[in-house]
Amino acid sequence: MKMHGRTPVVLLLAGLVTLYACHRDPDVAQPAGQEWNGPTPFQLSYPAWAADALHELLIPVDNPLTEEGVALGRKLFHEKALSDDYSMSCATCHQQEFAFSDPRTVSLGTDGSPGRRNSMGIMNPAWDHLFFWDARAASLEMQALGPVVNMVEMRNTWPVVESRLAAHPDYPLLFERAFGSPGVDSMRVVKAIAQFERTLISFNSRFDRFEHGGDITALTPQEQAGRDLYFGEAHCNDCHAAPFFSDNSVLAIGLGGDASDQGMGEVTGDHADYGRFKTTTMRNIEVTAPYMHDGRYATLEQVVDFYADSVDVNAPNMSQHMLPWIAGEIDLDADERAALVAFLKSLTDTEFLNNPAFSDPH
Ligand code: HEC
Ligand code: HEC
Repeated sequence: MKMHGRTPVVLLLAGLVTLYACHRDPDVAQPAGQEWNGPTPFQLSYPAWAADALHELLIPVDNPLTEEGVALGRKLFHEKALSDDYSMSCATCHQQEFAFSDPRTVSLGTDGSPGRRNSMGIMNPAWDHLFFWDARAASLEMQALGPVVNMVEMRNTWPVVESRLAAHPDYPLLFERAFGSPGVDSMRVVKAIAQFERTLISFNSRFDRFEHGGDITALTPQEQAGRDLYFGEAHCNDCHAAPFFSDNSVLAIGLGGDASDQGMGEVTGDHADYGRFKTTTMRNIEVTAPYMHDGRYATLEQVVDFYADSVDVNAPNMSQHMLPWIAGEIDLDADERAALVAFLKSLTDTEFLNNPAFSDPH
């Protein structure tokens, strides 16, 4: 993992101060050897086994990662000026210690009004192409346009955000550094945020050390039993597929209950999409409670009980991967359920949750 320690940030800022001074006073010549040659390419780092063929690394050609862009995106992700009353940043609902999710059942807007869905964690999104529970955004760039103007989230307008950032003492120069020319606009804001999000990489859980690092002591016997169930009899891996622990698809699993949210069906208007929601990753699932699109389950035990006892096999549009449930083949006793939960908790990546490169730089 490429780290942004304190020193590079300080050096970058020192560089910016110099450049800023030059802009202010054109008579001051640039000292030799300090010429700026444009943004520095940022090298994403991840284990070779994670470069799974099913999941292509998706970096838009018009938004390559740069050191300056990622640093700007990190600052913007934590920037409260994005919300109408300066009370909320992206990180308010996407907190690092909870794998960039929100422990509240549904998130609240700046005026306290509740949204209708649980905030999702953000992990390994560089390999993903469907965002939100209903998959209504096809890229991180498009995704990030939404929350700023959402009336149950930041309740702002893009012209207001643009003028606030353009009038800020630091941002104009940071944008120029990140994109190679002056200008603060909404597309650059979302591009920088997307660059930062693509660095949110998590592949260092105890499971990874067991499975890929050759450390057979990394999982307890109970967790190993849970692993066998996960990949075998309990069929979890059919959808929450390793190594991403998601198949990046949008499926109906017979969750039942509240019919007021039809997920992807509301976006496409197609009845075949009713009740379909995004298959989220199981990585760091221990810390992203509560669970499901509406946050209905407070614990992983409740989720596993749902899969063991309460799947509505007659629900419309059931995924083919739910056939073992429809055929009545899923039978998990108390020990097996406990083992599955224990295994899920072995997917927590404490390095990711504490990585200083992702924290609030303000
Ligand atoms: C008020 C809380 C709130 C704020 C502020 C907020 N989000 Fe979210 N975010 C959510 C909720 C809730 C969802 C799921 C919404 C849905 O699916 O309809 C979500 C979904 C997402 C997703 C989709 C993840 C996935 O796997 O599909 C990303 C990425 C994301 N937000 C990034 C951001 C960024 C970037 C910002 C700042 C520009 C932001 N969010 C601001 C609550 C919030
Ligand atoms: C047919 C595909 C499929 C199978 C099989 C499956 N899941 Fe899921 N899972 C999903 C989908 C889709 C969601 C999101 C549902 C929603 O919120 O409406 C989900 C949600 C979850 C969540 C909550 C995720 C979150 O971010 O809140 C957990 C935990 C979970 N599944 C665990 C499991 C376990 C454990 C198994 C095996 C017993 C399993 N799943 C089997 C597709 C599947």
